[in-house]
Amino acid sequence: MTNPSTQSVTFPEGFLWGSATASYQIEGAAREDGRGPSIWDTFSRTPGKVHAGHTGDVACDHYHRYRDDVAMMADLGLQAYRFSIAWPRIRPDGTGPVNPAGLDFYDRLVDELRGKGITPVVTLYHWDLPQSLEDRGGWTSRDTSYAFADYALAVHKRLGDRVETWTTLNEPWCSAYLGYASGVHAPGIQDPESAFKAVHHLLLGHGLATEALRDAGVRQLGITLNPAAVSPADPDSEADVAAAHLVDGLQNRIFFDPILRGSYPDDVLRHIRRFSDLNWLRTGDETIIGQPIDVLGINYYSPSYVRSKPGIEGNPTAPGTEGIEFLPPAGPVTDMGWAIEPAALTRLLERIHTDYPGTTLMITENGAAYPTGPDETGDRVPDADRVAYLDGHLRACHDAIARGVDLRGYFVWSLMDNYEWAEGYNKRFGVVYVDYDTQRRIPKDSARFYSEVIRNNGL
Ligand code: FCB
Repeated sequence: MTNPSTQSVTFPEGFLWGSATASYQIEGAAREDGRGPSIWDTFSRTPGKVHAGHTGDVACDHYHRYRDDVAMMADLGLQAYRFSIAWPRIRPDGTGPVNPAGLDFYDRLVDELRGKGITPVVTLYHWDLPQSLEDRGGWTSRDTSYAFADYALAVHKRLGDRVETWTTLNEPWCSAYLGYASGVHAPGIQDPESAFKAVHHLLLGHGLATEALRDAGVRQLGITLNPAAVSPADPDSEADVAAAHLVDGLQNRIFFDPILRGSYPDDVLRHIRRFSDLNWLRTGDETIIGQPIDVLGINYYSPSYVRSKPGIEGNPTAPGTEGIEFLPPAGPVTDMGWAIEPAALTRLLERIHTDYPGTTLMITENGAAYPTGPDETGDRVPDADRVAYLDGHLRACHDAIARGVDLRGYFVWSLMDNYEWAEGYNKRFGVVYVDYDTQRRIPKDSARFYSEVIRNNGL
C-alpha cells in the first residue's frame, strides 16, 4: 500500500535528488563543432517514423543555452544532474579520431554544474549511435561493443578528473527491441535475431567499458535499465503466470542475470534458439558482462499485465510472445497512454532487492507526460496531474526503502520538455515548460513541488 498523500515522509539522509535528460533530446546544434550524424538524425528524417517529421536539429538548444539551464537547475535546488554524452560529437565516425571540440562542450557543462554545486552524473550512451557504426551493422556487430569501450575511455580521459559517477548504457532494452525488433525507434529494423544480437552486444559493450573504466580508476559505475513491472493478469492462472515469466525473461532477466549474476538464464537462451543459433555468444562474454557494478539505475514509468490468450499475435517488441496478450491499461493513464500505478514501482524495487540481493539502486528516470501549457498569465504552468504522479511515485520509493530496499536517489524525467523520440515534441515530460518558438523556459508547478521535496528531503 502506498502511503496516502497526506502523510509526511522523510527520505534517508544523503538521498540524492536530481533530474535527467539525454543528448539528442535537448542539445540541438546537430551539425556544430564537428558532430557527426547519429541514427536518430537518419531515423527522424525517414518519412513516417517520427510524429510530424520532428527532428532533434534544434531541440531545446541546450548546446548554446547550457549556462542558463544550469542556473535554472541551481534555482530549483537540484543536487545532481544526469545527462548523456553524444557519441557522434566525440567520435563523429564512431571509431577514428576524437573530436576535441565535442569534448569541450561537456567539459564546459561539467565545470558549470560543479561551479553551482550540482553533481554531474554521466550516461555514456542514450541511443544516439553514430550513423557510420550503424552502416557497419550497429549493435548487431560485435565491433560496436569494442568501439563503445574505446569511446567511453576517450570521454573519461577528459572528464574523469571531475565526474565521479558513470553510467554505461541507458535502457538497452529500448536500443535492442525498439531499435531492431519492432523498429519503432532508430535504426528501425524489424528482425528478432538482430534484436537478440543487439541485446548481447550492448551488454558486452557495457562489460568492456566497465573493464576499461575500472582500469582508469572509476569507482562509481553502473548501468540503467527499464525493467518491466510485469504481472500475470490472473495470479491464480498457471498459463498467465507462465506468460508473465516469459515476458519477465525477455525484458528483465535477460539483462539482470548476466549483469548481476554473470550468466544468461537458461530458459531465455532456449527461447532465443527459436530465432538464432547463438553463435554470437562467445565463451568468456558473460564474465566480462558480469563484473561488479556499484549502482543499478532503474527507469520506471508504468506497469504491464499479461495473460495467456491462445491464437493472439506476438508483441513485436517481445519476439516469440505469440499467444500472450498485453492488457490495455485499466485505470488512469498519462498523455503517453501509460497506466499510472505507483505500487507497481514498490513491487518492482522489492523484487530486485529479493532476487538480486546486495544491489544498490537509484531511480534514474521517473515522470509523466501531460500536455499542460502556460495559463492565461503566460507565466505559470499548472500541472496538477504531474504533481500527483510524482507525489505517488515518490511515496512508492519511500515505501520500498521502508521495506529494506537499498535505494539511494531519484532523478525526475525530465528537467524540461524535450524531443520525445518517435513522439517528437508532441509529448511533454518536463517539470520545466519549453516554448519551442522562443526557447523560453517556464518552471511548471511540478518544478516548484519538486524543489520543495528536495528542500525537505521528503514530502
Ligand atoms: C525513457 C527514455 C527517455 C525518455 C523517457 C520518457 O525510455 O530513457 O529518454 O524518452 O523514456
